[in-house]
Amino acid sequence: MDGFLTWTPELSVGIDILDGDHQGFFELAAVLHDAQQADPVERHMVALSAIGLLEEYVEGHFLREERAMEKAGYPGLARHRELHQAFREQVAATARSYKEGDTAAAESLAQLVVSWLSAHIANVDHDYMGTVKPSDVDASSLMLLVLAASEEEVDEE
Ligand SMILES: [Fe+2]
Repeated sequence: MDGFLTWTPELSVGIDILDGDHQGFFELAAVLHDAQQADPVERHMVALSAIGLLEEYVEGHFLREERAMEKAGYPGLARHRELHQAFREQVAATARSYKEGDTAAAESLAQLVVSWLSAHIANVDHDYMGTVKPSDVDASSLMLLVLAASEEEVDEE
């Protein structure tokens, strides 16, 4: 390994399905990071798919976490939602830079995901531990949650 951050057990929130989502983000970021070593065509193909998946994962996972906090009556939900929103905007801006031709933005995005996520899990997600129980968490696949998140977006328009 070249020092790229990975998920470690200290980052567990004690709920398998949420840990699984978090691990998925680290894996996706690692794919994006590793692709920087490939030839330009492959690098670009992988980057586009990884960025697309990442943006969808973000929506699905945040919906899962926010619904669980809501169900559990977690008092820090509003603040937590704002932090999710800020990250969503950072991801979107970095993804946009990449699509506009800034090739270095792919690596920036990979680094952003692992550094933000490590800090967010340790400092913010860990706060809902004890309040959010496994039974509060929607166990649907991430794919179905991505669809649910896009439906909510349509409803808001
Ligand atoms: Fe979170």
